[in-house]
Parts: sequence; C-alpha cells; structure tokens
Amino acid sequence: MYLIAQNGQLNSFDIYHKRGYLACMLPQWIIEKKRDGVELSEEEIHSLIAGYTDGTVPDYQMSAFAMAVFMRGMTFAETAFLTDAMMKSGDILDISHISKPKADKHSTGGIGDKVSLVLAPLVACCGVVVPMLSGRGLGITGGTLDKLESIPGYRTNLSTREFLKILQKCGCSIMGQTAELAPADKKLYALRDVTGTVPSIPLIAASIMSKKLAEGTDVLTLDVKCGKGAFMKTLEQARELARTIVEIGARSNTPTNALVTDMNQPLGRTVGNALEVVEAVETLRGNGSTDLLEETIELSAEMLILTGTCHSKGEAAVLLKKQIDSGAAYEKFKEMITLHGGSPQAIDKTSTLPSASIQTFFSSPKAGYIVEVNAEQVGRACIVLGAGRKAVDEDIDHAVGISKIVKVGEWVERDQPLMLIHANDQTRLNNAVALLKDAVQISDKEAGVPSLILDRISI
Ligand code: URA
Repeated sequence: MYLIAQNGQLNSFDIYHKRGYLACMLPQWIIEKKRDGVELSEEEIHSLIAGYTDGTVPDYQMSAFAMAVFMRGMTFAETAFLTDAMMKSGDILDISHISKPKADKHSTGGIGDKVSLVLAPLVACCGVVVPMLSGRGLGITGGTLDKLESIPGYRTNLSTREFLKILQKCGCSIMGQTAELAPADKKLYALRDVTGTVPSIPLIAASIMSKKLAEGTDVLTLDVKCGKGAFMKTLEQARELARTIVEIGARSNTPTNALVTDMNQPLGRTVGNALEVVEAVETLRGNGSTDLLEETIELSAEMLILTGTCHSKGEAAVLLKKQIDSGAAYEKFKEMITLHGGSPQAIDKTSTLPSASIQTFFSSPKAGYIVEVNAEQVGRACIVLGAGRKAVDEDIDHAVGISKIVKVGEWVERDQPLMLIHANDQTRLNNAVALLKDAVQISDKEAGVPSLILDRISI
C-alpha cells in the first residue's frame, strides 16, 4: 500500500482522490516496476491515473508508462484496475431515468470504418437509445469525431447536460470525452497516438471500456477489427482483445459481446473524413456499399438482441432494413446532426461538404481480379494526405482521402481506376501515390469475397 491518508489512515483510491490524500509512490517508481515486468497494484495504477488527470504526472512520464505497458503487457487484474481508474477520472453518467434500453457499439479502429455514423441513428429508430462516446483518429485508423466534424457546425464537445438532452430528444448522440467524462482516456488516447503505443491489448481494452462504462450504457457491442489495417493483425490477438473486453464488461455488470471483423481491406469504398460522411449518408439513403451495410446490420442486430428488443438476428435484420427503406434512419441522422449544431443542409446536399482541390485517379496497370486492397497502405496514404494527425494537436484536413476504392473479388480492366485520390497539396499527393503503389494486387485467378465476420465472442 503506497497511499498515506492525511489523517494517517490508509484508504482506497476513491477516498484518497476525493479527500486529497497524499501519494508517496513516485510515478517513476511505478514506471520502473512496469518496465521490469512486475505486476502493479490497484493503488499504484489509480494514483498514476489520478496524477495524470490532474496534471501532476506529465505527458513524458505517461508516455514512458504507456511504452512499458506496451512492451510488458498487463495481467487481467491490472487491465481491470486501469479501466476502473480511467473511468473514475471523471463523472459516471446515470441515465437510468431514460426508460428505454440503452446500447452502444465501439470499434477498435479500422480504415474506412464509418459504421457508427450509420448504426447510431439506425438503432435509435428501433427504440434503443444510443449514448456514444467516440474518439479521434488513432494511429492510421480514422476517428468518428473527426468524420463528424467535417459537417459544418457539428459539435463533438457537448456538456453532459447537452448530451443527455439530445439522447432524450432523439435517442442517439455521438460526442467525445469531455473534461467530465473519462478525461484520463482523452489525454492518454491522444498521447498514445503519437508515441507508438496504440496496439496494446490492455491499453485498448482500458481505453474503450473506461469511456463506455462512464457513459452509462446498459449493454455494449464491440467491433474488434482484425487484419492489415487493424491494431490486431491476427485472429488470435483479436480474439484475446475481444475476450478481455467482454470479461471487463461482465465484471462491471454491463453485458458485452464482440464481433471480430475483417480489416484487411478498407470497409466500404471511401477513406477520409468528409468522404466517409458522404458514404454513410448514401448508406442511410439505401445506396451504400454492401459490406458497410452488412457489417452495420450485424453489429446493430447484436445490440437489439442484447437489449431484448429482438429475439433473433433474422427478426433484427428485418426491423433494421425497414428503418433504412422507410427513410426513418436517414431522418434520425439529420435530427442528431441538427441537435449537435450541424448543418442538415450539408447532409441533404453532400456536395457542400469540404472537398479537395486535386482529384486524381489511380489506375490499374493490367486487367484481372482484385485479390488484395491493403488497408494499412491505404490508411498510411490518407495520413500522408492530411486526413490524420502526426502530432497530438495537429489540425487535420477533412476534405482529403480516397474514394471509389475497388473491392477484393472484383474484376478490373487495364487502365480502369482502382481508386480516386483527393488531395490539397501536390507533394502530399505524390507521397501518397508512392505509398499506394503496391496497395492493390491484381491476379488472373479469382479470389473469393472475404468473410466480413470472423468470430463472435460472448460470455
Ligand atoms: N478505440 C479506443 O477508444 N481506444 C483505443 O485504444 C482504440 C480504439
């Protein structure tokens, strides 16, 4: 026990934190312990996170800690303590006064993953409230908040009160962590993005679950991405992350299940913030790409079943497709955008969203079947174009990215476009093209369309 209470009494983190007990364990000693592979105690993890939240532990120490965790890993107990400490770094919402069932979905991060934009209004139309705390781009993966901020006026930094009001009125709200909700994760998430410490199972699990448990959802569905464009490259790693998250959910009385989904090629046909909003809008209008719609329906169905709204995947799929066909999900999306201060006109007329000054096709050198579209290379090219960050406080360019991306299994003729690159700077465009040189593999032999759903993990 390393905490000394002011009144001489040793006590738990909550009491220590709220009443100002002193910690006599220096941050560097905690970092050294983790560096040397020694299991940390609950008090050590809580005191480090409390210090990071209030600014007494600086970014350089937290970066070292994140790298030590990345290299050494964490036991399940440590991961659960880290989740708890980050969850308790801010408020924990009580939304039990909203009588409808509450469900959320979170992705571990992928390329072209705009599922949340389609799923939140879709599930809300089925009578389930979706309180969604999302993140920004992380590593090479895109972030839901960055995508939404390409809609003029859309506010992702609501107060808790505003968030609750929107949830009650429209049934779904997507915003970021605030100073009030899981602020430790907000800081650590941005730090990990630029310190090479993203693909760590305990750090990802604690990051996701701290904000999801703080938002007060009844149930949770995880989309654990697996493949070249994901943090988990193998099915084995993805399953381990899924099991860790599902177990943390169960221990916190938040029933959680997970789908492991393919992220070897980008999801849908666009990557880049405004471009992905356009594709999400098209999907809500019933004209989206098949894989995006299929994955959204699968994840939404999990949420409807977990909340008891539907009893089978078939029943859920019928209900969900009805919301798209009737236009209800599209109208719900516009309602959410409007309540967040965004422009519904930009949704009705997506040509008014930010667009890039240079648009150039990347064409096929030969005829054949597409056997690979490397999501990692596409993701890196988009970062180079300016769609993601290289430093914590860097601005991003919402207009740039890639659209009209071919899919594995399709046939292309020689000189047929494989994708359309959107850039605002010639040097960046040249660098992106160099990265994309081998991203698409073409063969005489047909490759089947890969399965989207690779596994399902539940308790
Ligand atoms: N999503 C999160 O919220 N955190 C991570 O670390 C990865 C994906």
